[in-house]
Amino acid sequence: MKIQAFDNDFGAEITGVDLRDPSDELREAMHQAILNHQVIVVREQKLSPLEQVSFTEHFGPLEWQENKQHAHPDHDKVLVLSNELRPDGTAVGVVDAGDYWHSDSSHHEEPVMYTILQSIRNPASGGDTEFCNMYAVYDALPDDIKKKIAGLYAIHHVSKKLNPRTKISTSRPGAEDFYEFQAKARAEVRQPLVRTHDETGRQALYASPRFTLRIEDMDDAEAQPLLDELFKYVTDRKRPHHYRHKYTDGDLVMWDNRCTLHRATGGYGLPDIRRMHRTTVVGGKAFYKPAA
Ligand code: SIN
Repeated sequence: MKIQAFDNDFGAEITGVDLRDPSDELREAMHQAILNHQVIVVREQKLSPLEQVSFTEHFGPLEWQENKQHAHPDHDKVLVLSNELRPDGTAVGVVDAGDYWHSDSSHHEEPVMYTILQSIRNPASGGDTEFCNMYAVYDALPDDIKKKIAGLYAIHHVSKKLNPRTKISTSRPGAEDFYEFQAKARAEVRQPLVRTHDETGRQALYASPRFTLRIEDMDDAEAQPLLDELFKYVTDRKRPHHYRHKYTDGDLVMWDNRCTLHRATGGYGLPDIRRMHRTTVVGGKAFYKPAA
């Protein structure tokens, strides 16, 4: 096994491993690698849905899947992300998954800790996933902003209908109704704006254009410009804290949602098909602990 770190130690590639039947040693090495580098790329894997679930379970309990209609037929904890359509016009997978910067399931009380995405089929071009290092974003904030946001909470919600920073994708069949349903049926969740990583103890900015609606106990006149300012560190064109992954079939990418944001960059369309198999591990509640 070889670990090759990417620029600034954000992301690393692991070669020489087969994740179908990982030893305790390999799992521990992957755990350490993800704590050190936040995003791990493992090339040339071929995990069946059941093998992907078994591998994922080594890191914690799998997330309950809301999008049952897009679960893999061989295992309902594997979510299919794809633009492929069935002959009757229904979507095989989630079409618009992750199209805005986010941390997975930050709209849940107990958000997702790890996401594992296995690339099954790639379009000729496009379909990259971009990652942002949220420790680095936090570290780069001016001291007065760090002081201002310490200990604050932000409100997260899953529905794009409630978030003026997002647009509903026209490529997702039934999207308007789906987000309308979520707007009514799903609750708001409060999350710390600065999140202390429960294993590394480091601070990361924990907010995203996709799920964060506002700041608790702060007027929007003040909160929205502050959120815009914070999000510039993620969306800024210069992208100093970023890694963009270009897939080849068989790539398995695993990331730590406690200290990263990511987004699907799109840029492909039918008849070109992208298909990914996604599993997710739930972590505990997010919290903020002031530095000692
Ligand atoms: C996700 O947001 O979980 C999926 C990202 C991607 O498909 O590139």
